[in-house]
Amino acid sequence: MLLPLNISHMAETQVLAKPTILIQLDVDPQPSVFDGVVAVDTGVAHLFRHGGITPETVRDLVHGAIFTRGPADLRSTAIFVGGSDAARAEAVLDAVKSSFFGPFKVSVLFDPNGANTTAAAAVLATLEGLGGSVEGTRIAVLGGTGPVGGRVARLLAGLGANVTLGSRDPKRAKAAAETIKARVGTLVDSFGTSDLESLETGLDGASAVVAAGAAGVVLLPRSVRDRLSSLKVLIDLNAVPPLGIEGVEVMDKRTERDGLLTWGALGVGGTKMKIHKAALKRLFESNDAIIDAEQALAIGQSLRA
Ligand SMILES: NC(=O)c1ccc[n+]([C@@H]2O[C@H](COP(=O)([O-])OP(=O)(O)OC[C@H]3O[C@@H](n4cnc5c(N)ncnc54)[C@H](OP(=O)(O)O)[C@@H]3O)[C@@H](O)[C@H]2O)c1
Repeated sequence: MLLPLNISHMAETQVLAKPTILIQLDVDPQPSVFDGVVAVDTGVAHLFRHGGITPETVRDLVHGAIFTRGPADLRSTAIFVGGSDAARAEAVLDAVKSSFFGPFKVSVLFDPNGANTTAAAAVLATLEGLGGSVEGTRIAVLGGTGPVGGRVARLLAGLGANVTLGSRDPKRAKAAAETIKARVGTLVDSFGTSDLESLETGLDGASAVVAAGAAGVVLLPRSVRDRLSSLKVLIDLNAVPPLGIEGVEVMDKRTERDGLLTWGALGVGGTKMKIHKAALKRLFESNDAIIDAEQALAIGQSLRA
């Protein structure tokens, strides 16, 4: 017997729409409250929060996610990998991916300490400041050894920018640049920033500087900044005074200062939040998305299109 149209539609909806579940796998003892709140605000129906995650504890948790719902419903389950130690979180991400097999997989958002979504937002600001393309353009990333700075440098190198990466320790800068080259295939320069002369030499010819240093640390003082005639764009990701670039304010968002376009941490942070929320929604469109820095950038670009 044919069901009336509205009843058959209801039955179909009930069969198709399993409630969404996000499984938060966090390397910190207490899973990030920030990431949990964003998930709930994005409309996730159920949030399973797990802290103290190591690669060894991942497999059984992932099996619980992939063996409970039929293949057609796996898109309603997803995993978020996070935590304050990006390297440890990356090892957890690898363990998650290794626990999948065949069609038994769910989508994953990887955003340890917001590093991927923040880096993607910073790169979008850089693109905007430089007129839409960074190809062949010299761009310096200060604090490039950190999780955010390293990802900014990686994304910019992937877009064809001529990236140079700064650290207080030139050896650490070189190692970080080589890691990016191995991953992206593009040459990345490096320089030491421990004295003002080295800093100025390293920044020579840069059209844009992205400062991704630790909170409350000035990486680019005004005295050096004012001597760099090639500069067009300054982006500072540090929201804690003193800020990372002297003269850039935390709320700046495509702000004109002294002939330069500037972004501060909160100016970038609004875009970061939009990318984070859009990425969470994207998780539930399929059961096989892995959203790392490059995919976060693509999502940010799609929001602007
Ligand atoms: N706007 C947002 O939404 C948002 C989101 C996440 C993070 N953030 C901000 O983005 C920035 C980067 O984050 P992160 O987690 O990558 O930072 P991080 O790991 O704490 O630090 C980044 C780099 O800063 C350098 N550094 C550390 N202490 C320093 C000091 N005392 N003096 C000079 N340099 C120092 C280190 O490089 P070397 O030792 O190699 O020099 C380090 O690798 C932070 O300011 C963070 O608060 C913003």
